[in-house]
Formats: sequence, C-alpha cells, structure tokens
Amino acid sequence: MNNWTQRDKTAIWHPFTPLEAMEAPLVIDKAEGVNLYTPEGKRIIDVISSWWVNIHGHSNSYLAEAIASQARQLEHVIFAGFTHKPAITLAERLLEILPDNQDKVFYSDNGSTAVEVGIKMAFQYFYNKGISKKRIIAIDGAYHGDTFGAMSVGERGPFTEPFDPYLFSVDFLDFPEKEKEQQVWKHFKELVETDEVAAFIFEPIVQGASGMRVYAAELLDRMIALAQANDVICIADEVMTGFGRLGTLFAADQLSHKPDIFCLSKGLTGGALAMGVTTCTDKIQSAYRSSDLMKTFFHGHSFTANPMTCAVANASLDLLLSEECDANRQRLNERHIAFMTKLEAHSMVRNPRVMGTILAFELNTERDTSYFNEARHHLYPYFIEKGLLIRPLGNVIYLIPPYIISDEDLDYTYSTMLSFLDEYNDLF
Ligand SMILES: Cc1ncc(COP(=O)(O)O)c(C=O)c1O
Repeated sequence: MNNWTQRDKTAIWHPFTPLEAMEAPLVIDKAEGVNLYTPEGKRIIDVISSWWVNIHGHSNSYLAEAIASQARQLEHVIFAGFTHKPAITLAERLLEILPDNQDKVFYSDNGSTAVEVGIKMAFQYFYNKGISKKRIIAIDGAYHGDTFGAMSVGERGPFTEPFDPYLFSVDFLDFPEKEKEQQVWKHFKELVETDEVAAFIFEPIVQGASGMRVYAAELLDRMIALAQANDVICIADEVMTGFGRLGTLFAADQLSHKPDIFCLSKGLTGGALAMGVTTCTDKIQSAYRSSDLMKTFFHGHSFTANPMTCAVANASLDLLLSEECDANRQRLNERHIAFMTKLEAHSMVRNPRVMGTILAFELNTERDTSYFNEARHHLYPYFIEKGLLIRPLGNVIYLIPPYIISDEDLDYTYSTMLSFLDEYNDLF
C-alpha cells in the first residue's frame, strides 16, 4: 500500500463501502475529458460519469473558468435576505427549459435534499390549506437518496434495514413492468381515489439504482393525469434522468401530462459541484403565499444557492444547450443501439436496452442477482484492470458515459464488455 492509500484508510470513511475487507480505493490525481488518471499515470475511462453526474466530462476548462471567476467575485453569501445574479439567472434559465407549468426554483445541496424538499413542499401544501392528506405513493425499487424522507419513499432492503423503524409509511406500487401494468394501474387508481393521498413520487420512465429499469411513458402519463384529477401532487425525481440523459432534456418532455414538482441534481452543474434544485408550479406556491408566517416553507441549507455552484450550473447549461451536445447525445444513442444488436446475440446477455445515452443489460445467470452477488467481485476489478470504470447494479451492467465520449473510447468500451462476457461465460 502506498502512503496515500494508507493515509486514506486511516482517516476516511467512504460511501457505500465496508470498513473492512475491501480493496483500497484508487487515488486519482487528475482527470480530463472522460479520463481519470492515477499518480502512476494509469488511464481509466469513466463510462459511468462518476455516479452519473459528469455529463460534459472531467476538468472541463469552460466550467473550471466559471467557478474560478465567480470565486474571485463572490464565493458565497447567505441566501435568506440576500440574493445574487448567478442564482437568478440560473433559476430563470431552468424555468425556461423545464415544462411550462414550472414556476419557481428552490435551491438545496444534492439529489437527496432536492427530494426532501419536494416531499416537504407537497406535505406542507396540504397542511397550509388545512386539508388532511397523509399518504404518499412510491414505486417498488425506487431510489431517491439517503436522507430519511428520501429513504422512506425508496426501496426497503438491506441498505435501509437499520433505519426501517424510523421511516414513514408509504404505499408502494409494484414496478410497472409490461405484464404488471394492468395490476399497477388498478392499485394506483384505488389509492388515489381514497382522497387520502398527498403525493406520488417516481423516477420517470427509467428507475436508475434498481438497475436502469424502464417502464412505459404512456402508463406514467395516465397515472399523472389521474393523480392530478384527484388533487394528488406528482413529484418527478429527475435527479438521474434530467439534463439530457434520456435524449430529451428532461424525461418529462416525453410525457404529455407534466408533474407538479421536479427534483434535479447530478448533471445540473455538469457534475462539477454539488447542488440540488426543486421546482414547482404556481398552484403549489399558492398555498404558501400568505401573511401568516406559519405558512412559510421553513427549509434551508448553509450553502443554499452557492454562487460558484450557480455559476458552474449556468456554464453547464451553455454546453448542454449547444448543438454540439445535442449531436453528441444523438451519436451516443445511435452507437448504443448499434452495439445492442451484438449484445442481443450473446448468450450471457438478458434484456439489453437503450434509453437515450444509457445502455444496460442483465447477466444471463440463474445465480444470486442481488446487489451483493458474486459477479461484481469479478466484474469491477476486471474492467478497472482494462482501464474502464464500470460498477454493476446487482447483475445489471450499464454504461452512462459523459456525452463527449469519443467513438474510439466507446468502441474500446463495447469490445471490452464483449471480451468480459466471453471470458467469464463459465463463471455465471
Ligand atoms: C433518482 C435519484 N434520486 C436521488 C438521488 C440522490 O442523489 P444524491 O446522491 O445527490 O443525494 C439519486 C442518486 O443516485 C438518484 O439516482
């Protein structure tokens, strides 16, 4: 173990990482484009955009300059009683590109807080109106973050088990895979028609952490329509799907009925700094517009709307809305689709799928397919050794690369995936 790794082990507790019996983390000294570099100069292609955040690649000089020049001008200011131009510009620009019904922007720190804010906003909406609606609907397998509210509306399993007694109660729908659509619709209808449901929260069209699982936009559209007709607030968690991941700027662009609340993060800042955003309709705010102080939304964080973060989010939007980025997303989608035909022909592959810039498939195995399965112990080091950062979700292997990835790096990624499937055929 070199010195830095030892010092890391002594001082740091890493996320989602057992404290013992784990490979030492790799030290990364610098990054450029899709590449991460170790101090020894090993190149690792980041084909999962560092937990799905890094849409324009690493150390982008345009984003770096936005942070640096903002840091010299105004690095931070309390956001209650004060405001600043980068936050105002960003809010206006987000409202410009979000569906028309979105009317106000609330800033926070990350995806989990964006979700917490969304849930709290919905609950307090009814509280302020003096309406008693206490139930909330979510979808099995959901991942909305690691804070308590976000955990409550997410899949209950080994990750949440120690906290289960403290999580609030939620009505979970089965995941609406094709065969279950009818049944899910029936269950949903029964619930929303009770008049007791305040909110419905969902990852639109693709559920990320449960394994890049896709469900029908058409069904979600009908669910939103029915929910809204029954005064149920629809919260779209677009933390993963937002900012072009599914091809369109937001997943909701593929729906005709628009959610009431959006939760955003990850690609919002191009992955350079942490930020959460929750947006809502005029209808939601109407319950808060009052001279009664007790109707205030009492939520905030020390770093709310940090100016450097707003500046880099503005710069990231410049890149995202460029023709070049659009063409790159299109190219990525076409390349993934072409590769999918090769995956379809492979005996080790089940259910290959492409959603915009994401490609995913399951290993065709009868073995344990949980997050803790055997495959990940082989898969992760295999790809790292080959210079690729790929982290499986259970037995799901997926790519969610920065949009700027070159054809050459994509070809290398695809061929290495095929080599892995051939070499490890027997193991699974
Ligand atoms: C859909 C979704 N919501 C919320 C979160 C939580 O975001 P964060 O990790 O920034 O708290 C994630 C993170 O992966 C996510 O995929």
